[in-house]
Amino acid sequence: MTDIAQLTVALNAALDPVAGKRATARIEGDRASIILDVTGLDEPARDAIERDVQAAAAGVAGIATVRVALTSQRTRRLLIAVASGKGGVGKSTVSANLAIGLQALGRRVGLVDADIYGPSQPTLMGVQGSRPTAKDKVLEPVSTPYGVPLLSMGQLVAPDQAIAWRGPMAAGALGQLVDADWAAQDTLVIDLPPGTGDVQLSMIQKHRPAGAVIVSTPQDLALIDARRAIDLFTKAGVPIIGLVENMAGYICPHCGEVSDPFGRGGAEAAAAELGIEFLGRIPLDMAIRSASDAGVPPASGNGVESLAFSGIAQRVFHWIEQGG
Ligand SMILES: Nc1ncnc2c1ncn2[C@@H]1O[C@H](COP(=O)(O)OP(=O)(O)OP(=O)(O)O)[C@@H](O)[C@H]1O
Ligand SMILES: [Mg+2]
Repeated sequence: MTDIAQLTVALNAALDPVAGKRATARIEGDRASIILDVTGLDEPARDAIERDVQAAAAGVAGIATVRVALTSQRTRRLLIAVASGKGGVGKSTVSANLAIGLQALGRRVGLVDADIYGPSQPTLMGVQGSRPTAKDKVLEPVSTPYGVPLLSMGQLVAPDQAIAWRGPMAAGALGQLVDADWAAQDTLVIDLPPGTGDVQLSMIQKHRPAGAVIVSTPQDLALIDARRAIDLFTKAGVPIIGLVENMAGYICPHCGEVSDPFGRGGAEAAAAELGIEFLGRIPLDMAIRSASDAGVPPASGNGVESLAFSGIAQRVFHWIEQGG
């Protein structure tokens, strides 16, 4: 048997218990170079398999030195972008509650706050002041009380520091958040800044979201902006999962009467007209605002405020399960 054949046999024996792990080996003189695929293994498992492979190769006659290089394929996560044309329409509120709702339905969800100009997820998820750690320059998401780990642009800069990043810096920061150590999370909900700027473009071009959820108020003006956001994703080939109408129907905290300060049904009509799905309507409700400010997203409880959010999460979940 040639040296390389012997080495292959030895490597296969070492790799046998770890299903699906592959190594490629090369021999030059008495040196063996091995590239070992450790996709999906945690650190102790990687160390163990590296040691086994090293030992197996060193045991082959004629080999004096062994070099093992580890590679891992990036796990493909499903990214869901939450966008709007206009600011202040409730993207961050929808993102936080959607992440929690999808998690409750069985997805393993991480939340990315990509809003450099007004990061709000640390507040919404009740982890203000938290800072992620980094290992080998890869960020480790912060855990939240709701089981959905979080990374926010707001955690990368001091809260009182005005953020005046140029486009490339913002894009770089977004990359760090998306390519962080999300471990077992299979779905990332991305809370985008308002509008159609650099962060959105970088999101679309570099990170290819599986789909986008568009948030709008019932106002016509907001809908015109929403159409711009829809256009941006559609032209880039990113499917629109659907439209959420937020702040529809004001529930009076005193008498419970429902009125419509911003009109009603505008987003649903627009969705029908544009041929995209209507994901649901969230009322303008003081209880939603106060719970959000207090870091307790309504979707984490089972009050009436959670109902609108759970309906939306179910529709998005269904979309994902249907294959996107
Ligand atoms: N349905 C609702 N009822 C009551 N208050 C709401 C509702 N939706 C959002 N809000 C409140 O409105 C404000 C803006 O919401 P949010 O931060 O989610 O919007 P946004 O689109 O992410 O804003 P920005 O463009 O600044 O990122 C927050 O104070 C939030 O608590
Ligand atoms: Mg926001």
